[in-house]
Amino acid sequence: ESYDMGGHDTYMHKEIHEQADAVDRALRGRIDDRFSTVHLGGLNLDARDARAVRRVKILGCGTSYHAGQIGAQMIEELARIPADAEPASEFRYRNPVVDPDTLYIAVSQSGETYDVLAAVQELKRKGARVLGLVNVVGSAIARETDGGIYVHAGPEVCVVSTKCFTNMVVSFGLLALHLGRTRDLSVADGKRIIAGLRKLPEQIAEILANEGEIEKLAGEYADAKSMMFIGRVRGYPVAREASLKLKEVSYIHAEAYPASELKHGPLALIEPAMPTVAIVPNDDLLEKNRAALEEIKARSGRILAVAHQVQEKADHTIVVPKNEDELDPILMGIPLQLLAYYTAKAMGRDIDKPRNLAKSVTVE
Ligand code: G6P
Repeated sequence: ESYDMGGHDTYMHKEIHEQADAVDRALRGRIDDRFSTVHLGGLNLDARDARAVRRVKILGCGTSYHAGQIGAQMIEELARIPADAEPASEFRYRNPVVDPDTLYIAVSQSGETYDVLAAVQELKRKGARVLGLVNVVGSAIARETDGGIYVHAGPEVCVVSTKCFTNMVVSFGLLALHLGRTRDLSVADGKRIIAGLRKLPEQIAEILANEGEIEKLAGEYADAKSMMFIGRVRGYPVAREASLKLKEVSYIHAEAYPASELKHGPLALIEPAMPTVAIVPNDDLLEKNRAALEEIKARSGRILAVAHQVQEKADHTIVVPKNEDELDPILMGIPLQLLAYYTAKAMGRDIDKPRNLAKSVTVE
């Protein structure tokens, strides 16, 4: 596939920079200010159906699975429906209990990933209701699901996903708001989330305008053989996706841990040669996250924080604009896409086509 690179050196760089427009597209025509909710035309789930949902199970692979983890948290927070995400392949092979009151959601950029498609088919065979959260219109998963949301990220060429991930998470935000407003999410909270969603494109543009600083930081950390990514609750899937992105394009080993689990093992790895990237939002867990930074500093670990204000314990902080707590994960991963990109660039990697990887895996 080839289309205009628009002056960018790689599709990854181009697609990272398309995110403000992509998010704008995901929101367009969907917000309903009158009832402080959203309209999702293809969802095929009326208010009665939505209220009957007792659990949500999200299935995807790779980056889409990580988007699903953030989505599950948004659904729990805004709609108060128990929700979780699982890799589609694991789900398929563990003979899962398929429950008629559970809403299943298959997440996929391509809509063709075999493990996700096979999970959808197995669920349908057992009579489950399955929605798709898909980028490619008319793809196999979009066709086989009962309804869903197109994420409208536009074509994504780089093997590693950036703008599509962001649009998936935004789409989960829309779905969580929609489900929430059929239940106990108040008009005031609906308005608050809508205002937050509307701010996203501008805030993304602000983060991307800071690219020069992130390029410099990538130079500081490109010598690492291995990196630790930590976050807590909302920040944990952000850390997981950022560590995956770095691995995929730079081939630097990285692992992600909940910050709270550091003391149960990975703290043994901390030393100056093992830098940590920490997700530190200004939310109710700020003090807990700061305590983790202190533990790392006490072991002479280098720290790069992604935060809403400069973190004293960190060697460097990338400051991102604050949104509503529930929507912060959408923004906090974006500078780390750039960090992965610039690290890989400094190392001369084949950024758009990393070794051993394919854009979509349509076989077992
Ligand atoms: C491959 C790609 C990943 C992608 C995953 C799921 O492994 O290399 O970037 O996240 O497939 O793809 P999908 O099209 O289902 O989102």
